[in-house]
Amino acid sequence: MTMEGTDATNNTSSNFWKSSTGPIWALAPMEDVTDTVFREVVLRLGHPDHYPILFSEFLSTDGFCHPVGQTKVIHRLKINESELELVKKHDVKMVAQIWGTDPEKFHKTARYIAEETPFDGIDINMGCPMKNIIRKGACSALINTPGLAREIITATKEGSNLPLSVKTRIGFKSVVTEGWISNLLASEADALTVHGRIQKRMSDGEADWNEIGKAVQLRNQINPGMKLLGNGDVKSIEESMQKINDYGVDGVMVGRGIFGNPWLYNPDHEPGMQDKLDALRLHATLYATTWKGEKPWSIIKRFFKIYTNSFNGAPALRSQLMYTHNLEEVETVLANFLAEQPK
Ligand SMILES: Cc1cc2nc3c(=O)[nH]c(=O)nc-3n(C[C@H](O)[C@H](O)[C@H](O)COP(=O)(O)O)c2cc1C
Repeated sequence: MTMEGTDATNNTSSNFWKSSTGPIWALAPMEDVTDTVFREVVLRLGHPDHYPILFSEFLSTDGFCHPVGQTKVIHRLKINESELELVKKHDVKMVAQIWGTDPEKFHKTARYIAEETPFDGIDINMGCPMKNIIRKGACSALINTPGLAREIITATKEGSNLPLSVKTRIGFKSVVTEGWISNLLASEADALTVHGRIQKRMSDGEADWNEIGKAVQLRNQINPGMKLLGNGDVKSIEESMQKINDYGVDGVMVGRGIFGNPWLYNPDHEPGMQDKLDALRLHATLYATTWKGEKPWSIIKRFFKIYTNSFNGAPALRSQLMYTHNLEEVETVLANFLAEQPK
């Protein structure tokens, strides 16, 4: 691993943001959700025609550059061989998301990602609203320090020549789309994702797509070459197309919508009970074999409800799954459930 030096690396991957033409689909970065396991599940349930750009969970640049802390955060960059195989086969792009406040640490982390990992791009988190994070001046708090935000973008760009994107909101305490987004449009970033809420709103209320539309107008005037994705409350490919038509965004990033429908990227498929149980088994197996106890079982339990709905006996099955502690117990619960099904 190289952490020294200040030059951009020799990574020659082409700039997929600049070269992308059609509608862009993106699966949002989500902590404790979009690890290598879930990303692979989303691809396996999706259709190659609609595969999204995959974002990692956010990685702390402070943690990464800390001599001891690194071991605690590095798992966020883990990519299983089985995910990588799929990604390569279908030319899916993967983006590592990073956060922090120190441009030098962004530079070092970006350099590592470019030199040592298969990620195709880097995304800077300027949107997370969580109190413990904004207290440090990071993520959405950078909206209040636009000069530092620009320094961070420059340092990250200098640390690697991977395509660079920024994910942000339309304001901190109040809506400041014009000033803030104009600042980012004048930066070295190749793409922006705009979540149509301010920090203060967290995830409450409806995302303001009119402000996202305003960001598109600014982009058209200031930097037409920069891609702009909208984010907030979208639950399907159909709705994404509607947003593209109505607001002029180049693409749509979906977060929580994937919990309502993990087949979101396979819009012509109507999953039945067997599909759901197979998906649940796949997810639990990948989780157990990938993390081997490194991550608690409680994390995967949050996913069980996305596969146990809209079939007879689903609520009872779900509550039994909530008492499991490992893959073997999940297998037993599933086997008992199937044995009780009418032949
Ligand atoms: C469980 C969870 C974890 C999240 N973690 C991150 C994260 O690591 N980085 C980030 O930029 N946004 C994160 N977000 C925000 C989402 O990426 C997205 O911007 C937000 O959920 C709004 O989109 P949606 O309405 O499609 O869910 C997270 C959201 C959720 C629900």
